[in-house]
Amino acid sequence: MDTEAVIFDLDGVLLHTDRFHYLAWKQLSDEKGIYFDEEINQRLRGVSREQSLEIILERYGGPALTPEEKKQMTDKKNEIYRSFLGQMTPADVADDVRTTLLALRKADFRLAVGSSSKNTRFILDKTDLAGYFDAVSDGTMIRRTKPDPEVFLLAAELLAIRPEKCLVVEDAAAGIEAGKRAGMKTAAFGDAAKLRIADHDLNRFSDLLPIVGNYTGVNL
Ligand code: BG6
Ligand code: MG
Repeated sequence: MDTEAVIFDLDGVLLHTDRFHYLAWKQLSDEKGIYFDEEINQRLRGVSREQSLEIILERYGGPALTPEEKKQMTDKKNEIYRSFLGQMTPADVADDVRTTLLALRKADFRLAVGSSSKNTRFILDKTDLAGYFDAVSDGTMIRRTKPDPEVFLLAAELLAIRPEKCLVVEDAAAGIEAGKRAGMKTAAFGDAAKLRIADHDLNRFSDLLPIVGNYTGVNL
């Protein structure tokens, strides 16, 4: 079969945690007097916490920051972010997402998460999503974050499926690039779908079913 596995990004694809990332960075930037807006936020999608801070600091005009000061800033952002995550429940998963994951599982596709986030396990547990996936590849297991393909290649390895038989679902330009560099097919969701850079653009999460169906001849 042409496609045997689907690898999902987490933040902004399976859940709206991308909003919490934005709100946490916004609070930190406001406290430090650094300009930050939704447009700059687009560049933070898919990249690590540390790289996100470097992008935000492009607008910082103060004295050079030490590595310790930067660490304090990323720790503070994560503390704010985790306070949002702490309020999440299984009800935060859209019905569309659950039914689509179930349909794919029922048709015997292998499913994985491929996320740059070190909070992945915590989020999957809070929202009761972990059980849908055969493998999780996340920010605690890799050395280079998206657009590097490492996180997706690791997911494929954990699934024991060749990269060319995987389809990546992403909301970040960096994530689509990572999927392509991994030699996988790509589907863009949310903001990335407007960029027209992926093999497929999804309006709704469940649009994934006919796409996978077309690749495999399975009626989903
Ligand atoms: C990605 C987000 O999923 O995870 C990025 O799109 C974020 O915005 C990255 O920086 C790392 O997340 P965390 O939870 O480890 O700070
Ligand atoms: Mg994302």
